[in-house]
Amino acid sequence: MGLFRFKKGRCLIGLDIGSSAVKAVEFTDHGDRLAVTAYNQKPLESKEAAADIVRECIIDGNFHTRDVATSVSGRGVVVRFVNMMKMSQEELEKAVQFEADKYIPFELSDVVLASQKLEEIKDPTMSEREMKVLLVAVKKETIEEHIDILRKAGLNPQIIDVDAFALSNAFEMKELLGPKMAASDKVDALVDIGSNKTNISIVKNMALRFSREFYIAGNDFTDAVAKRLQMDLQEAEAVKANPAGREQEVEEAVRQLIEDFANEIHLSSDYYESKYEEEVDEIYLSGGGAKLYGLAQSLEQIFGKRVSLWDPFEGYDVDTSNVNTDALARNAPRLVIAAGLAARIRGG
Ligand SMILES: Nc1ncnc2c1ncn2[C@@H]1O[C@H](COP(=O)(O)OP(=O)(O)OP(=O)(O)O)[C@@H](O)[C@H]1O
Ligand SMILES: [Mg+2]
Repeated sequence: MGLFRFKKGRCLIGLDIGSSAVKAVEFTDHGDRLAVTAYNQKPLESKEAAADIVRECIIDGNFHTRDVATSVSGRGVVVRFVNMMKMSQEELEKAVQFEADKYIPFELSDVVLASQKLEEIKDPTMSEREMKVLLVAVKKETIEEHIDILRKAGLNPQIIDVDAFALSNAFEMKELLGPKMAASDKVDALVDIGSNKTNISIVKNMALRFSREFYIAGNDFTDAVAKRLQMDLQEAEAVKANPAGREQEVEEAVRQLIEDFANEIHLSSDYYESKYEEEVDEIYLSGGGAKLYGLAQSLEQIFGKRVSLWDPFEGYDVDTSNVNTDALARNAPRLVIAAGLAARIRGG
């Protein structure tokens, strides 16, 4: 479910304006296949520079369209799954205007609200008369800021989504196009680790069932390395990304923070597991922070479950005349949100 949807062409850019970098991926729909036809990313030094950086990113990457699907995230966005009495979608849209303040921690006059019935989702506490409803509230200010950047950058916003939907959409595409279909009734936790925040989204049979953001992410790991190794942030960032020879020091510097990070994942997986009385089977890491030295391995030990980084381009054609395939492969986990957005070319 996108918050807004406008018109649809044959190419679409998935544009992820994160707090540390702009990531853009273009998909072209060839009917039977989807192809990656452009890709670029650029560091974002400040929010003020965003429109210029986005414009440069698109021009330098030789993108074929100016139509973009983009997403909002962070403290101005809330995604909730709640139980409500069964009613039609039309009635639901009216009802949430009255009931949303029970679930949404914002003034309702400040937000755009979207709701959707999820009749196929049941939890054991629900009565026959109830249904599961997805509620999304985004601060108007957050959307306006975002649209302003896109317009200034000369782009046509076609779809405005939230990160959690882009993440689960990318995962669904991977499962559909990838070499193996997900085992049915499999529950996966998708953990996207950015620079400022981490999104954890839990999906069952590829459909989103839970999403939450918490605020331990890449920057905090950099801070921990800087403190422990007594270096400035720039140097710490470089050592963190490439610890060559200093692996043990980096591991020690981030050990406590990985524990705290794992506790945040636990909070969400415990909530899900007790609510639905079923276990999370696997954990998939994405976002730039997913590459942190030793992270996947430590989480695997802590949770006793398989933890892996994933490539959202598995099963896609790539236009090698316009796409730097090495950079695409190297950055693949960091491009998951952008890929999930661009995949909206297929609707959904
Ligand atoms: N090799 C690496 N090892 C560890 N961390 C890395 C590596 N490469 C990038 N990062 C971290 O990834 C983070 C950036 O990731 P990403 O681009 O997903 O964030 P963002 O989308 O800009 O931020 P946010 O989602 O919080 O707004 C930075 O904190 C950076 O330090
Ligand atoms: Mg991000």
